[in-house]
Amino acid sequence: MTDLLASLNADFGLEGHVHFQAGENGLHMARIDNDLATAEVYLHGGNITAFQPHGSDPLLWLSPLAQFQTDKAIRGGVPVIWPWFGPHSVDSHKPQHGFARTASWQVSHAGALADGSTQLQLDLRDTSATRTLWPHAFALELVFTVGTELRIELTSRNTGDQPFTAGAALHSYFAVGDVEQVVVEGLADCEYIDKLDADRRKRQEGLVRIHAEVDRIYLKTENSCVIHDPLMARQIHIEKGGSRSTVVWNPWADKAEAMADFPDQGFRQMLCIETANAADDVRILAPGDAHTLSQRISLHREVPRQ
Ligand code: BG6
Repeated sequence: MTDLLASLNADFGLEGHVHFQAGENGLHMARIDNDLATAEVYLHGGNITAFQPHGSDPLLWLSPLAQFQTDKAIRGGVPVIWPWFGPHSVDSHKPQHGFARTASWQVSHAGALADGSTQLQLDLRDTSATRTLWPHAFALELVFTVGTELRIELTSRNTGDQPFTAGAALHSYFAVGDVEQVVVEGLADCEYIDKLDADRRKRQEGLVRIHAEVDRIYLKTENSCVIHDPLMARQIHIEKGGSRSTVVWNPWADKAEAMADFPDQGFRQMLCIETANAADDVRILAPGDAHTLSQRISLHREVPRQ
């Protein structure tokens, strides 16, 4: 363990930017601390569990009960969902949301950009374990750029000789002051699949407000979303690329109680807005083809409405 950390620091550690250390439960983590922000990225799942521009409150929500175990996804941050979103389409024994969020990712690059931000790249390739779950050859690249804003780019490449279909999501858990006071802009008039109502298709009227459990896939959504958070006096802007579907999820009280890694009242301080390739937005990649799913997250001061 210590030897691995020493070699990660020797190969990719960068003074004033990235240091590899043992995180929760000894799992390897890249701690990013530059002139603009701090962040924590676990190699387990390629999950960025913390991002905080200097002078701001944390942007991402991480469950205080998250279980940092190699066979479980970390509850919070931005789990990487791939190569299928939700339950597997034909085999309910296969893991929900695919295997990328529980895989061990490799570091392949760390660097400093001219504007003071830090870039970290993680890679994941097929193994005999992934081929048992999904019989395809692939290469995934996950690039984090940590500065005053956070950019995440997930590139999937088909390295095999047969086409494949992949779903995905950057399953982002955002920290909010009180979810009932938050409004989400950017999805008005969009059609959505209501996963809590037999997948019925409905249309969003106006802003999204959360006063109960919500589990929806919004379709044909390429625009940015903005979380307006009056209690924290801030807006979170989520701009996306390579995505035409957006998932909005909050488990509310009963589901929160049923989850061992979720505090009973934790649903009030979080909201998932997921940049996705879900439902009919899955991507078919021919051999050699690549697709990039990306999001840019930035904080802005909320000017109180008059
Ligand atoms: C969301 C799904 O993306 O993730 C929900 O739309 C699901 O249906 C939620 O409950 C959390 O999933 P998990 O597997 O992390 O508990």
